[in-house]
Amino acid sequence: MNYKIAVVPGDGIGPEVIDQALRVLDRIGEKYNHTFTYTKVLAGGAAIDATGKCLPQETIDVCKASDAVLLGAVGGWKWDNLPGDERPERALLGLRKELGLFANLRPAMLFEELSQACPLKPEIIEGGLDLVVVRELTGGIYFGEKGTKETEMGPAAYDVELYSEEEVRRIAIVAFDMAMKRNKKVTSIDKANVLESSRLWRRVVAEVAKDYPEVELNNLYVDNAAMQMVLNPKQFDVIVTSNIFGDILSDEASQITGSIGMLPSASLAKGNFGMYEPVHGSAPDIAGQNKANPMATILSAAMMLRYTFGLGQEADDIENAVKKVLSDGYRTPDLMANGGKAIGTKEAGELITSAI
Ligand code: NAD
Ligand code: IPM
Ligand code: MN
Repeated sequence: MNYKIAVVPGDGIGPEVIDQALRVLDRIGEKYNHTFTYTKVLAGGAAIDATGKCLPQETIDVCKASDAVLLGAVGGWKWDNLPGDERPERALLGLRKELGLFANLRPAMLFEELSQACPLKPEIIEGGLDLVVVRELTGGIYFGEKGTKETEMGPAAYDVELYSEEEVRRIAIVAFDMAMKRNKKVTSIDKANVLESSRLWRRVVAEVAKDYPEVELNNLYVDNAAMQMVLNPKQFDVIVTSNIFGDILSDEASQITGSIGMLPSASLAKGNFGMYEPVHGSAPDIAGQNKANPMATILSAAMMLRYTFGLGQEADDIENAVKKVLSDGYRTPDLMANGGKAIGTKEAGELITSAI
């Protein structure tokens, strides 16, 4: 089979981690006789520098004409003072909206080999941790009305959090479907004690839950949830939450895995189309130094094989290769707190490739 992949390396460590993911995909292609065709396109700071626009139309067109998108990361200090709608991050939001990627899956799994890299006490993580954050990705405060105005207190700015019942329903269905394939537990996280949009969220999630009698539903306020994530993360199976709460809680959950450099993600539209990217950003502080952990991006490529292409065996191969490299003791700098055999971005990609 031939699979068409739009590749958006982006900025900072983006191109470095993407190179390693492509190398791993090539190895899978060779082993299983698949052809992966890559079309590299610009978005973010790289696109601003080359074309003046953070998200050129060509990039959108190529992504739409592909079977899936693999993205590194966008953003960096160089572009931090541009107006909001011209910033590199705007490209990412534009792609999510244009491609209809409303469901963002962010699995946080602790590889046993990395239990020492997790900052939580051994008794908290004993027996392993395995949760997935299902984050609503094309609504809420990220996409609500925004602007500036004069107030009694002087110049002010605002961003509106708005959710329709339908937006909540479709993300809740994704979460409950996922729970049915896992441990049948959904935790919906909101701020229903304060926000009207959260009260609507909670009501609609409860309605969807009626269609899944086998799944246990819990509701938590986001402040409590942030605390529970470090106090007792084992209570979570599937978390479903809004765009902004999911952004924050998934970075928190990443620490369970030992490093943000380990956390992959899938952003899915209706059907099988998806964009796959690590949860981390462009890490300008370590860019260009062969220090970035490429595992989050490589595991995102595995999610692409599993979810969009239906290649479960191939995805398993990649995940097992990552485990093998970790259990052989190799560590990129972000995972070195407790020692190990030091490797860089390229060596990590090489080792994973040869373990497949
Ligand atoms: P970041 O995730 O880029 O970095 C946070 C910290 O984690 C840094 O110390 C960094 O060195 C480290 N880190 C991140 N990824 C790593 C990896 N793979 N291996 C080892 N260490 C890693 O977050 P930030 O510093 O808040 O943001 C930097 C830029 O990235 C900003 O412009 C931000 O808007 C952007 N950003 C982009 C995305 C995306 O494209 N999906 C996501 C988050 C942030
Ligand atoms: C993420 C990032 C993005 C977000 C930014 C860069 C727009 O933090 O993917 O988690 O907030 O969604
Ligand atoms: Mn984020």
